[in-house]
Amino acid sequence: MPPQVRFQQILDWDSPRQKARLRQELAAGLLQPQACIAPKFFYDKLGSRLFEAITELPEYYPTRTEAAIFAEHLSAIRQALGEDFTLIDLGCGSCGKAGRLFHAGVRPARYVAVDISVDFMRDSLQQLKRELPAVEMIGIGADFTHELQLPDDLPAARRMFFYPGSSIGNFSPPEAGRFLRRLAAQMDASGGLLIGVDLIKDAALLDAAYDDALGVTAAFNRNLLRHVNARLDADFDIGDWRHVAFYNAAEARIEMYLEARRALSASWPDSTGRSLRHFAAGERIHTENSYKYSPEGFTALLASAGFADIQLWTDPRAWFALFFARRAG
Ligand code: AVJ
Repeated sequence: MPPQVRFQQILDWDSPRQKARLRQELAAGLLQPQACIAPKFFYDKLGSRLFEAITELPEYYPTRTEAAIFAEHLSAIRQALGEDFTLIDLGCGSCGKAGRLFHAGVRPARYVAVDISVDFMRDSLQQLKRELPAVEMIGIGADFTHELQLPDDLPAARRMFFYPGSSIGNFSPPEAGRFLRRLAAQMDASGGLLIGVDLIKDAALLDAAYDDALGVTAAFNRNLLRHVNARLDADFDIGDWRHVAFYNAAEARIEMYLEARRALSASWPDSTGRSLRHFAAGERIHTENSYKYSPEGFTALLASAGFADIQLWTDPRAWFALFFARRAG
């Protein structure tokens, strides 16, 4: 018998209730003057794989820079996490980052993997359990940015939230503050947060990281329309949409869009039948913001969200930072 992983609260993307909710969300975004589709729609199985490919691109520095920080500061990180803790991995993806930590000797008593890409999470976690049968593992398929319901029997002490990869950048700073405050409320004073944050840097480096020469980020962005077509019966013609990404220095964020190559319309089902929106040539759908921080700015954000004892590690070029913080007592 294969080692057992407990799966809970698996979000069923295809349940009628979920579908209705997602359709409503899609319609609300598409009908705004600046059309938008939320970044969570990137992550169907193919989208998760395309993101994994992005992390291997020469231009996409965050993943490998963060990994180098982990390698360089492993003993300090291990000390911060302590012993007999529960690692709660927010957006585990392939579980690769947690897996590498475990193989480097960081051993939690319990590992809780949370991801919106349910099938991808399930496969990845089962694989990890085979490699590390001694660690208790729980999988939660959820949109944790919306709400995170931890298992009732999860010990309250030493909950270490793990939020690597600078996914916090998808929130605006005020939203990020509210999200961090909600995390603080889910731990006691023995808990903590280990979080990766992408730092403000030269615009040319940022532009290249989000518009790579091979076009993998373009494929990742455009796959969102394929996902929305497949999941919610929209009728976007993917060939009509071009990837656009650039750094907006005034807002300290990467902005990503899909831009219509020609005048066109797209439709999707709603409660009455189908809704339709016309797009002029050059009109854009906003798909993602990725905010960048200064070390001081993110430290202040953590403090205002109820964290204390804030430590940070960075790489020699100060491109990326890893923060560890405890709940303020
Ligand atoms: C997964 C949100 C951290 O913002 O860098 C990568 C997503 N988008 N390339 C990021 C992403 C385009 C990524 N996060």
